[in-house]
Amino acid sequence: MGKMQITGETTITGVFGYPVKHSLSPVFQNAAFQHCGLNWVYIPFEVSPENLGKAVEAIRFFSMKGMNITIPHKKNVLKYLDFLDEEVKLLGVANTIVNEDGFLKGYTTDGIGFLRSLKEDGNFNPEKKNVFLFGAGGAGFALTGSLVNAGISRLVICNRTYEKAVIMKTHLKKYFSFENTEIVQFEERNQSSLWKGIDLIVNTTSVGMKDEDIVLVEEENLNEAMFIYDIVYNRKTKLIKSAAKRGIRYLDGLSMLVFQGAVSFTLWTGIEAPIDIMKKSLIEYRKNTNNT
Ligand code: ATR
Repeated sequence: MGKMQITGETTITGVFGYPVKHSLSPVFQNAAFQHCGLNWVYIPFEVSPENLGKAVEAIRFFSMKGMNITIPHKKNVLKYLDFLDEEVKLLGVANTIVNEDGFLKGYTTDGIGFLRSLKEDGNFNPEKKNVFLFGAGGAGFALTGSLVNAGISRLVICNRTYEKAVIMKTHLKKYFSFENTEIVQFEERNQSSLWKGIDLIVNTTSVGMKDEDIVLVEEENLNEAMFIYDIVYNRKTKLIKSAAKRGIRYLDGLSMLVFQGAVSFTLWTGIEAPIDIMKKSLIEYRKNTNNT
């Protein structure tokens, strides 16, 4: 594997974000490049919103191979790109740019990354399953699209702001011809009748990121046959703690972080990403920085 050495031939990738200092992508992307023996590097770039256009132009004139795009640029970046993947058009966001000789292509890897994580890490196939989804924000839209494509049977949508759940329901009907959706008021989420037959719970909200956050699902509504997926990755949420305590299968956002990054890695390099190496590098990094 060897030590990383930057040379005249090093291929440059990275991430544009604002802020970007918290990003964990440089840790696992560079670990992956090294493991695969690629003379590539992944660099964080702090890009303020007013400089996004110039920064995207810089991808071209510095001949950088690829870029991840994160908060707050995922929507605004679209207008600077030369080609948009179908899913990017549908969701209105991109998180990955591939530079093909100056031609910039936009992709979104959250949905596919989530699905791969669920299948490969969680050993859970969502086909014909009943799903309870929290959140109808950007992450919620990306994940539900991939779940519907994977053939889920029924979707319960629960979002603090009711209107956004309605928009999601309409979206799924219009673009995916998926009508087996039901909306639940956020305040009513713990009615026990709602939880009968639910196979998969997905949290795409930020609830659980802070200690004082509310309980999303009362423990009495959980059972051992379920699978719980919480995309929060900076800590163990109450939902994940309940799952662990009850012996319920679960995954947290770290898995999704790695898999969405793995999809970007493959879009840039054309080779399969070393998932285990990426994960290990994050676990190691956390141990060393006590960053929990
Ligand atoms: P993202 O793109 O990551 O999904 P977002 O679009 O801001 O981010 O969505 C955040 C989600 O977390 C939303 O579903 C939001 O609910 P609202 O639509 O009502 O804003 C949800 N959320 C954030 N804080 C919440 C809280 N304290 N209680 C319940 N839901 C919350």
